[in-house]
Amino acid sequence: MAGELLIDARGLQTYYGQSHILRGIDFQVARGETIGLMGRNGMGKSTLLKTLMGLVKPRGGSVQVMGRDMTGRAPYEIAQLGIAYVPEGRGIFGNLSVVENLQMAARPGTRGQRDWTYERVLETFPRLAERLGHGGQQLSGGEQQMLTIGRALMTNPDVLILDEATEGLAPLIAREIWRICGLIRDSGISTVIVDKNWKHVTQLTDRNVILVKGEVVFAGTSGQLRSDPQVLAQHLGV
Ligand SMILES: Nc1ncnc2c1ncn2[C@@H]1O[C@H](COP(=O)(O)OP(=O)(O)OP(=O)(O)O)[C@@H](O)[C@H]1O
Ligand SMILES: [Mg+2]
Repeated sequence: MAGELLIDARGLQTYYGQSHILRGIDFQVARGETIGLMGRNGMGKSTLLKTLMGLVKPRGGSVQVMGRDMTGRAPYEIAQLGIAYVPEGRGIFGNLSVVENLQMAARPGTRGQRDWTYERVLETFPRLAERLGHGGQQLSGGEQQMLTIGRALMTNPDVLILDEATEGLAPLIAREIWRICGLIRDSGISTVIVDKNWKHVTQLTDRNVILVKGEVVFAGTSGQLRSDPQVLAQHLGV
């Protein structure tokens, strides 16, 4: 890992009530890198993302964002530092149109960057461009997912976090999402991708982290992961 650290989390301990979920996790995101976060169901991937975003407060450890200590701070404060988060299960404004959903989110990034304009988002998502006047509720699941990603891009983030963006989508639509993830990576945004499809993930990512029961059991390059059948079998069940 090289370059400026945009997110630097150390020793995270996160609980839900009495349940101890994250058990001392270190997690870093450098500028421009694409990271895969994997692990079987219930291992703590979404909890790690929520802890980074301030949606769940850790009982131990720290979260630095853009060099500032943001441990225990509110999600909007973390988002304002240039971290866009697309949670599991979408969440668009169903009563607003595609245009409204996108334009409402528009803002320059933390360094004044305006790389992702309304026009560029529509170029990237031709399916959305064909449905501008549709209400969010009228979109298919895949189109809703595209809209949530498009909306996140409209904020010109430094880091984009995608939790299970392809889950439940038809293969063709999932492939479209993967294509878009490649375009986002090429635009220089750091991305954190949680997904069950390790082949797609490792085609795209520089580094990968695997969680088992709230602990990091593997951290390495995509090449290292792909050439380690034991890790794949033991921790991802493939
Ligand atoms: N709000 C909550 N309250 C209590 N327990 C929770 C809550 N959310 C998650 N958990 C538990 O925390 C553990 C980690 O869940 P988490 O959602 O982080 O896993 P995950 O790796 O994202 O799994 P998946 O692949 O199924 O999305 C699981 O045992 C889950 O049941
Ligand atoms: Mg999850």
